[in-house]
Amino acid sequence: MAKSVRKFLIAGNWKMNKTASEAVDLVSELVGEVGKTTDVTVCVCPPFTCLESVARALEGSTVRLGAQNMHHEASGAYTGEISAGMLRTLFVNYVILGHSERRQYFAESDEFINKKVIAALEGNLSPILCVGELLAERESGKTLEVIKRQIDGGLVGVTAAHADRLVIAYEPVWAIGTGKTATPAMAQEAQGAIRLLLNGHLGSAAGAKVRILYGGSMKADNAEALLAQPDIDGGLVGGASLEAKSFIKIVQAAQKQAPIRGR
Ligand code: 13P
Repeated sequence: MAKSVRKFLIAGNWKMNKTASEAVDLVSELVGEVGKTTDVTVCVCPPFTCLESVARALEGSTVRLGAQNMHHEASGAYTGEISAGMLRTLFVNYVILGHSERRQYFAESDEFINKKVIAALEGNLSPILCVGELLAERESGKTLEVIKRQIDGGLVGVTAAHADRLVIAYEPVWAIGTGKTATPAMAQEAQGAIRLLLNGHLGSAAGAKVRILYGGSMKADNAEALLAQPDIDGGLVGGASLEAKSFIKIVQAAQKQAPIRGR
C-alpha cells in the first residue's frame, strides 16, 4: 500500500515543562496559526496538570491533545497514577508510552509498557509507543535487535484492528535533547525495519496503516528532509515544541510534504 495512506502526525512532547497559564499561551498561538489544519494531524502532549486548560484552549480547533503517560489499570490504589478513562474525560486522544526517559528513570519494562498499550487501545486512545537504541547499542551494532525487542514486547496482543490508532515513535536515545539528529538515511533504515516488524505482527495491509514518527532533536531546519523519507510519517518533537514558532515551522514542513504524499 502506498505511503499516502498515512497522514502526517506532528506531536509535541512538552515533558515536565509549562504551567497551566504558560501552556494556554503557547496553545493559543498554535491554534491561531495551525488550528484549522487538516492535511497534517497536530497534537500537543502537555503535563497532566495542564490537560484541562489546554483542552479548553483547543476547543473548536483541529489540534489534538495527548498525554505523556498513563497506568494500565482503570482505577484503584495506584498513588500518583492516571488511567485511560480519566484521560478520555479530558478529551485526550493520544498517549505517549514507553518513552526512553520512562524506561531509563522509572525502570519501565517492555512487559509493563505492553499492558499500557493494550489499556490505551481498549480505552479508545491512540498509543504512541516509543522505541529506540542507546548510543552504546548503536555503536555495537545492536540497533535493530533492540528495536525488535521493544516492538515485539510492546505489541503483544495488538491486532490488525488496532492499526488505525497505533502510532510508533522511533527515538534514538542518543539524539534526544542532544542536538544530534539521526540522518534521514539512518532514521529511514530503522523505521523501514520497524515497518517490516509491524507487517509481521499485523499483516502488511494493517502494517502499512501504522504511523511511524521520528523523534530526537527534530527542528525546523531538519524536519523537511526527515519527513521526505518513505517510513517517516511525522515527528515526536521535544525541545522545539516548547516554543510556538519553532513547532509551527515543523508543522509547516509537514504540510509542504503532505501533497507529495497524495493528500
Ligand atoms: P528533543 O526533540 O528535545 O530531542 O526530544 C525528543 C523527544 O524525546 C520527544 O519525545
